[in-house]
Amino acid sequence: MRFLKLFLLFVVVQVSAQQGGMWVPSLLSGMNEQEMKHLGMKMSASDIYDANKSSLKDAVPQFDGGCTSEVISPKGLLLTNHHCGFDAIQSHSTVDHDYLTDGFWAYKMEDELPNEGMVVTFVIKIEDVTAQVLANTADLPEAEKQKKIKENIAAVSGSFPKESWQENSIRTFYEGNQYLLFVLENFKDIRLVGAPPSSIGKFGSDTDNWVWPRHTGDFSLFRIYADKNNHPAAYAKENVPYVPKHFLPISLDGVKENDFNLVYGYPGRTTEYLPAVAVEQIVNTLNPAKIEVRDRALKIEDGFMRKDNAIKIQYASKYASIANYWKKWMGESLGLKKSNAVNVKRAEEQRFNEEVAKKGKTAVYGSLIVDFETNYKEIAPYALARDYFNEVVVRNTELLSVGYKLYQLEQLYKTKGEQAFTERKNVLYNGLGEFYKDYNKAVDEKVFGELIDIYARKVPAEFIPPALTNVDTKKLTSDVYAATQLTSYGEIQKLLTGDTQTILNKINNDKGYQLVKSMADTYLNKVAPKYDEINLRITALQRTYIKALLELKTKARMFPDANSTLRVTYGKVKGYKAKDATIYESRTYLDGVLEKYIPGDYEFDVSPKLIDLYNKKDYGPYGEGGKMPVCFIGTSHTTGGNSGSPAIDAKGNLIGLNFDRVWEGTMSDIYYDPAICRNVMTDIRYVLFIIDKFAGAQNIIDELKLVHPKKKR
Ligand code: ARG
Ligand code: GLU
Repeated sequence: MRFLKLFLLFVVVQVSAQQGGMWVPSLLSGMNEQEMKHLGMKMSASDIYDANKSSLKDAVPQFDGGCTSEVISPKGLLLTNHHCGFDAIQSHSTVDHDYLTDGFWAYKMEDELPNEGMVVTFVIKIEDVTAQVLANTADLPEAEKQKKIKENIAAVSGSFPKESWQENSIRTFYEGNQYLLFVLENFKDIRLVGAPPSSIGKFGSDTDNWVWPRHTGDFSLFRIYADKNNHPAAYAKENVPYVPKHFLPISLDGVKENDFNLVYGYPGRTTEYLPAVAVEQIVNTLNPAKIEVRDRALKIEDGFMRKDNAIKIQYASKYASIANYWKKWMGESLGLKKSNAVNVKRAEEQRFNEEVAKKGKTAVYGSLIVDFETNYKEIAPYALARDYFNEVVVRNTELLSVGYKLYQLEQLYKTKGEQAFTERKNVLYNGLGEFYKDYNKAVDEKVFGELIDIYARKVPAEFIPPALTNVDTKKLTSDVYAATQLTSYGEIQKLLTGDTQTILNKINNDKGYQLVKSMADTYLNKVAPKYDEINLRITALQRTYIKALLELKTKARMFPDANSTLRVTYGKVKGYKAKDATIYESRTYLDGVLEKYIPGDYEFDVSPKLIDLYNKKDYGPYGEGGKMPVCFIGTSHTTGGNSGSPAIDAKGNLIGLNFDRVWEGTMSDIYYDPAICRNVMTDIRYVLFIIDKFAGAQNIIDELKLVHPKKKR
């Protein structure tokens, strides 16, 4: 009897440990539904996704390409993260009207601010078109096969029924082993409704980023506008608030440890099925290289930002974006090492090979793992040089990244001729104004000095460009910045004036440009072609590997890697054991904000108004037992792109807003370990408290549907 009990306990633990994965909502299986119900869900799969009646998916559009958002009112009110709205909030800000510092609230719809270029995309329908896309391709050689697949994709997406204002998009899953078609609606008139001050929306900033315990009210509010037929339309003053097919009611009942929740959204990219050798390369070589580059750039920018408020505004968004992945890679490496991911994968690969042998598939799959080893060894120096080029030239040194745009312009002239050149030149001529608005030469020169030094020392010797061979990088830096015209908008406009030959001559005489050209030429001749060639082989291996895993069923639960399409992930509210003797609880409170408070600090300052509300315990209906909840964590498997995703309770109500993961678990993009991988959400009651008690935006609260699902009636 005792034994039986133990055995049952073991079975239950096994079942409930089945978590992780980002599942396609239209393809949720009986297994998924069973797992969700086991975790406490009270809905059915068709409440989550249904192409024929309104379901949760109709309230969860992708936000501006990279984040997720959710509709929370019948008037198209949209909730997403503060860091997802950050660029928009920043672009409406000036030193006098500093919405980043002070927050922004539209107390009337007329005050909402339009955002040029912003797009919000709904999924109307998902259809499996694998058979059509792969039709008549089985016996073709690889190159022809890919060509035929492309043709099939064009034909299917051209003919699949849709309305005139909709769009069809076909995406590949399981690396070319499955194809799904999405019917989409893109809304383009999106207006800013509200944002808390950064001291709330970005509380803890980069120090707390990717870390638990967390105390950030990471939210902002937008509204979707549509034409009078409720269809997508370009911005027009007379557009009207969008009427959604579904919007999320908001639960005021809060969360407890072990409560079910699902996170719905658009995870960007994961690589869960990488071979051990690839993971090893990431941990030992590629992550450390990228981390070092960003480390240096960040230290310099930070030094300037702390001293000068104008620079702080100019560099806030850039700094946050460089810092984000810098820190993520550190956490990821740590977690991969700690969880022994490489060895775990090696053991899996051994089991895979045994299974291949057992099923008599050695001829087709027997050399996969060895081939991975060979190809990853071969690609190593190219991959490293590529990361340095991307990190130093394309991304993090402003002069080099502008220079690289000019380099691409010159290449365009060489490959596509005069007209393409002129079109791109005009785009640059006008568009670079935005870039220079946030540019500071002193900051850039210092960053340049540091990063060019890393480049000259750390890129594998055979890929160092002539311009950096045996040079004194200090002298190079001051020479370049004394002479180049790439450091101001006025000067670069002069460079880009005249006929094509004049422009090309002028830019080629610029010292900054000459350096970029030397770096880019070397990269494009010596690194990129070989990298692409090996990478193509690796991609083909990966496709076969995934096919084999699906076929041999060596993994009981196999979800497709994230690819920025709509996914469901589910789990429980749960704390975790971070390291020896360190156990984290699953929920934080406003008390923790005050514990972290550092007056005047740019990351940990707290607004007097918030302190006042705290002292008075003026939490309205949003508090719990005299305390104000702020954030919570759970076991859902999320990644970049899930920012702004709704956390939804067992009955379909909004309980939280996803915005991050915990330090020890950021490796979940490569290896998900249910013991330490946690997603971080802002408690929805904190969002409501800030809107209501802090901002006094009763107009917004009035639009919402607040519910008490846990109360029996
Ligand atoms: N780590 C979160 C994400 O990946 C938040 C990023 C924004 N915050 C920041 N301090 N950079 O998007
Ligand atoms: N902050 C991330 C984003 O922008 C989400 C957190 C994560 O990567 O898990 O999507």
